[in-house]
Amino acid sequence: MNLLLYGAPGSGKGTQANMLRSRFGIPHIATGDMLRAEIQAGTPLGRQAQPILAKGQYVPDDIMIGMIRNRLHKPDAGGGFIIDGFPRTVPQAEALDVLMGELGRSLDRVLYLKVEMAELLERLSGRLVCPACQRTYPPGTTACAADGTALVQREDDNVEAVKPRIEIYLSKTVPVLEHYRGTGIVSEIDGRGTIDEITGRVLNAIGENGRFNSMSFLP
Ligand code: AP5
Ligand code: MG
Repeated sequence: MNLLLYGAPGSGKGTQANMLRSRFGIPHIATGDMLRAEIQAGTPLGRQAQPILAKGQYVPDDIMIGMIRNRLHKPDAGGGFIIDGFPRTVPQAEALDVLMGELGRSLDRVLYLKVEMAELLERLSGRLVCPACQRTYPPGTTACAADGTALVQREDDNVEAVKPRIEIYLSKTVPVLEHYRGTGIVSEIDGRGTIDEITGRVLNAIGENGRFNSMSFLP
């Protein structure tokens, strides 16, 4: 099952990807998490990326395309994957098409988590993350349920960075959805409601046994 999670910052991509990874045993490939791991490790890429992420801008396409190419060639991605945070620009989407062709694979479904702007801003301002495993939690949580690590706020979850993150999403990433619209693989999922309700909609969109249900578009 080759899945792509699409949605604005704070729409719940990471939250739903964790569920899909546990349920289907396929890797969660999140470019934001990969960049934050590079920053934490102090690599040359991490040093280059840190100020870009802190300001809510995008890392250059050539770097991101190289990163996803390397990751998708790893053996654990051979049985399927959940991509989260890529492609974020039309050139990245075109590069992913080429890469899928090289790998002899195709995307089975693009899961678009649709959430209103006011809700996105509220979620991002309250979000907490585990610095060890990158799982995300709503406000009020203190420790990671998986490993007990004390939760922290992400460096880009502040007013100065959230505004440019939303703006760049609207200008550069909304056109990516148009790139996939004509392919018939987009499921538009109402991202309002509890996490469990949205999980139910995601599973319905991909089908219990990995068989893909016809799209249920929002009105
Ligand atoms: P990335 O890490 O991908 O950030 P993002 O796209 O801004 O998305 P988020 O991780 O903020 O949100 P999410 O949709 O995962 O929501 P979550 O599940 O956490 O990228 C970070 C940066 O890296 C980018 O800004 C860019 O600089 C760079 N980058 C990455 N990829 C790149 C690329 N391809 N090209 C260029 N640059 C790139 O949920 C949010 C919160 O809401 C959590 O607290 C959660 O608990 C809560 N929540 C979830 N669901 C619900 C619900 N149903 N009800 C209430 N609360 C909920
Ligand atoms: Mg995320």
